[in-house]
Amino acid sequence: MEKYIINGGKKLSGEIKVAGAKNLALKVFPATILSQETCFLNNVPEIEDLQRMIETMEDLGAKIEKLKNGKYKVSTKDINKTELKPDLVKKLRASIMLAGPMLARFGEITLAHPGGCIIGQRPIDLFLEGFQKLGAKMTENGSSYTLKADKLIGAKIILPKISVTVTENLMMAATLAQGTTIIKNAAMEPEIPALAEYLNKHGAKITGAGTPELIIEGVKKLSAGEFDIIPDRIETGTFVMLGLMTQSELKITNCNPQHIETVLYSLEKTGAKLKIGKDYIITKPSNLKGVNITTHEYPGFPTDLQAPYTALMTQAEGMSLIHEPIFEARLFYTDILNQMGANIIMCDPHRVVINGPTQLHGRLVVSPDLRAGMTLVLAALSAKGTSSIENIYQINRGYENIVERLQNIGADIKQINE
Ligand code: UD1
Repeated sequence: MEKYIINGGKKLSGEIKVAGAKNLALKVFPATILSQETCFLNNVPEIEDLQRMIETMEDLGAKIEKLKNGKYKVSTKDINKTELKPDLVKKLRASIMLAGPMLARFGEITLAHPGGCIIGQRPIDLFLEGFQKLGAKMTENGSSYTLKADKLIGAKIILPKISVTVTENLMMAATLAQGTTIIKNAAMEPEIPALAEYLNKHGAKITGAGTPELIIEGVKKLSAGEFDIIPDRIETGTFVMLGLMTQSELKITNCNPQHIETVLYSLEKTGAKLKIGKDYIITKPSNLKGVNITTHEYPGFPTDLQAPYTALMTQAEGMSLIHEPIFEARLFYTDILNQMGANIIMCDPHRVVINGPTQLHGRLVVSPDLRAGMTLVLAALSAKGTSSIENIYQINRGYENIVERLQNIGADIKQINE
């Protein structure tokens, strides 16, 4: 079993570089299916989730070559299957991102109900409904779905709920559809205009990405070329919280602070001392006070930064209320923070109240999911004593080479395999 051993309570210092955005790389790789040409992707994060995506695409027949760390050559010309390997789909919810591009290029896709982080019910009804609006016919066989369409036809799609991956999937499918598609109540996360930029650069006609209304004029084919993945805004925010939680002066580089403005606003209200540059953020030791947050779709406070912020609030003076309306099972890790010495009361599955500050103590914990897992690393680094974190696959799913990067800023962390 692999685990992290962390001796906490040390100040960190130096520079930590943010990796490419997981939630863009996991969409751009599937987007390469929309063209038969070879594509070169840069600033790709070396994370487990992306390896699962690569394995899934290779299983379909794609040729994917790692040229060097972070640089990949992708050719989907020889894809010869339309069924996603069920065991890979179960490991990676984002494998559903292959549905839109596969449907657009081959007119068919079969996939099992996807897995991923257990942070709520995570239905896929809106994907299925959206593809059907574009003209696909669906059949269900046990726990898998087949979608078929001789030709996708542009349509007006109103999303009853704002969803990042549904918006992106329908946007990709619509690029090769006949006619115009309008997506209303679209998600606006920075990865969406970035994905639209990739598609437009290669011949798509998308306007409105980054606003609630997307207009996609279908084109006959797309080309491919070189593209850089934007920096990961969730990793950026997580490292800012890490600096503040450990009372450290940390310089977080290769990031875009504009993508986490709402988070920086809340942090500044807590009293956090931050120096914010164009592509860096420096944290300074700060006396924090509790500030409430409610997670919200972009440009609100991201649900993916809710857990590290909650951990940070255990070190702030006074009370703070964390409200997580987006996912219904995304606060249960707070029980683990309590086992480490936090004082967090769960009001209901969507709300917790934190009374701070409390000294955290190292202990044996198990990572429940990706973001909560990384939050336990933050908690362990600020705690007194030694922690052992198990189920670290969940952390490696989304954070590149995290042990070495943390060691480079002075963290006492190592991975052991027993
Ligand atoms: C994406 C991100 C994830 C982030 C989340 C919210 C990726 C790979 N993952 O996940 O890191 O936490 O956005 O910012 O980009 N929903 C439905 N039916 C559907 C689909 C979603 O009801 O068919 C609901 C979900 O249960 C949830 C809400 O919509 O309550 C928003 O989730 P969504 O934006 O879809 O999250 P993901 O795209 O899965």
